[in-house]
Amino acid sequence: MAHNISEKMFALTQRNSVVRQMFEEGNRLAAIHGRENVFDFSIGNPNFPAPQKIKEAVYDVLENEPSTMVHGYMSNAGYADVRSAVASSLNSRFGTSFDGNNIIMTVGAAGSINVILKTLLNPGDEVIAIAPYFLEYGNYVANYDGVLVVVPPNIPDFQPDAETIGRTVTSKTKAVIVNSPNNPTGVIYSEETIKKIAAVLEQKQKEYGHPIYILADEPYRELCYDGAEVPWLTKFYRNTIVGYSWSKSLSLPGERIGYLVIPSEADDAALIIDAAAIANRVMGFVNAPSLMQRVVMRCLDERTDIASYDNNRKLLYKGLKDAGFECAYPQGAFYMWVKTPCDDKEFSNIAKKYNILVVPGSSFACPGYVRIAYCVSPKTIEGSLSGFKKLGEELFGK
Ligand SMILES: Cc1ncc(COP(=O)(O)O)c(C=O)c1O
Repeated sequence: MAHNISEKMFALTQRNSVVRQMFEEGNRLAAIHGRENVFDFSIGNPNFPAPQKIKEAVYDVLENEPSTMVHGYMSNAGYADVRSAVASSLNSRFGTSFDGNNIIMTVGAAGSINVILKTLLNPGDEVIAIAPYFLEYGNYVANYDGVLVVVPPNIPDFQPDAETIGRTVTSKTKAVIVNSPNNPTGVIYSEETIKKIAAVLEQKQKEYGHPIYILADEPYRELCYDGAEVPWLTKFYRNTIVGYSWSKSLSLPGERIGYLVIPSEADDAALIIDAAAIANRVMGFVNAPSLMQRVVMRCLDERTDIASYDNNRKLLYKGLKDAGFECAYPQGAFYMWVKTPCDDKEFSNIAKKYNILVVPGSSFACPGYVRIAYCVSPKTIEGSLSGFKKLGEELFGK
């Protein structure tokens, strides 16, 4: 087909994100059956509102800070006071000693990852992702002509296998993306797993004589259940760069606000910090949204309503088990990762008969599973359970 757009973008138009397609499908079904009769578990758009404190902070900023400050340009890395406040908050939580210079405010986690990849990658450099993984990583790495190399999933517990990661590293490996709590599995990578990955990468850095960075993608850091803790990776591996966003943790995905942590002890830290601020600018973000920077600075101790997510987790897990499905009890994030008794794409198609939308595992480089995003209202889960029951009967032939 003749066209006048870039080949890279043309290729993307031909394989638009399955999650996004499902989202559109949900809207289509809702127009036919009514929103309340469609059980859309396709996208990680938090249903629970942002904490009240966010609204108060927005008013406070608008009422009490000078307009040029709230709406103006600032350093490409973000407001100095916001960066310092983020650093202090991390220090008090994790016993680290960051200062404002170690923090670059970004346009959400997607902005964080793109900025750091733009900063680090030369064409042909390899970035390792561990399946199952957030499929956008492939697009992000391709943006900078890098090559995404995928480590196969470690079934059934989905704790990454350090030795396999080690075998995947080559002289071209620049970074390994580690996402925990994980989208799509809900697994938290244990301290033991992290220590093993760190040891393998230390050894590989020595072998190849250059740094291999861990990019810790952590938009779900605070979404943990039953008191589970997510290891803070800079403590275990010097060349860790953390990307964070408040999209999920404070239900602010449309506001596009997050940050990068670039520890001073990482190789080339000063250069990376400079380059990341410039990347923010030259990629056209210029800086993270200024109003939101001022708002999150006032809300660093705020937490989302984890108890509501936990209720959803329990309700859905029980419903799925009762319907005969096999799935692990998620430790974090808001995704249930369910084994499919048939091809995962077929499963997701059959589920549509019951107005249930779930995303096939092949969209996360792990066929044989589907992802159910339970960041929905409890009513959606309750309403879906009879459909899941029928789906189970159909698939297991009960
Ligand atoms: C693992 C992971 N990384 C990054 C992102 C992007 O987050 P943000 O909306 O903050 O850019 C998401 C969003 O779903 C995600 O699941």
